[in-house]
Amino acid sequence: MTNHQLPMTNMKRIVVFTGAGVSAESGLGTFRDSDGLWEHYRIEDVCTHEAWLRNPQLCVEFYNARRKDTLAAQPNAAHVAIAKLQHAIPGTRVITQNIDDLHERAGATEVVHLHGEITKLRSENNETATVPLNGWEQHYGDRHPDGSLLRPYIVFFGEGVPYFDEACRIASQADIMVVVGTSLNVYPAASLIHYAPANCPIYFVDPGQPEFGMWADRITHIRKKATEGVPELVEKLIKENS
Ligand code: APR
Repeated sequence: MTNHQLPMTNMKRIVVFTGAGVSAESGLGTFRDSDGLWEHYRIEDVCTHEAWLRNPQLCVEFYNARRKDTLAAQPNAAHVAIAKLQHAIPGTRVITQNIDDLHERAGATEVVHLHGEITKLRSENNETATVPLNGWEQHYGDRHPDGSLLRPYIVFFGEGVPYFDEACRIASQADIMVVVGTSLNVYPAASLIHYAPANCPIYFVDPGQPEFGMWADRITHIRKKATEGVPELVEKLIKENS
């Protein structure tokens, strides 16, 4: 059997896990860096179920603004490189904490969004009953086909993460994990790296100093911005694994 006939099972399974840092250079602010979104808004006012019940109009306005920003943003070199990796090494999966659609617009497919998607709305009664929204503006009061009120398709703090089990399953099958631009502050998403098999190398592209804790020994920290570090890493991975 020649090399190019190797069965798919011999190909490395690469899992890319991203946070707000991957979209920072597209102009979408992160949450916890200085001047981040949570310095300007209180989570309790816009991103909890209680906030939604207390002042849904404010939540709608907050996410309308996020949607407007997202639609105006363009994928950057890191999103493009991740999509290239997915096409070069079939089976590569992308899991993101981000609500933007920049991975998809760069050409990535089957992206698992742990915290929802800004381009969609969901039924108030069913966390996975989503509908697409054209444009940036949700009008408060519109209803889902199931009759319930539509709310932004965002996983609020304190709510369950509907696709976390699927993400864990994907992470547990990784041969290589690439993590980009996350402070690892928000659980359960941050625990995804715990699901990578023991012998799975973990590359972490982030110019900051996320708290790796007991995982520090297993992590290769590439202290670069996503648009620089990710394309370099992707070239290396493609060279070594395809
Ligand atoms: N390239 C790569 N990483 C970057 C860049 C960049 N250009 N700029 C900043 N970062 C890094 C920061 O160093 C930090 O580690 O991105 C990370 C951003 O961290 P957070 O703002 O905490 O974002 P994230 O980890 O994605 O937040 C998780 O919190 O409020 C929520 O639901 C929201 O999904 C989000 C979750």
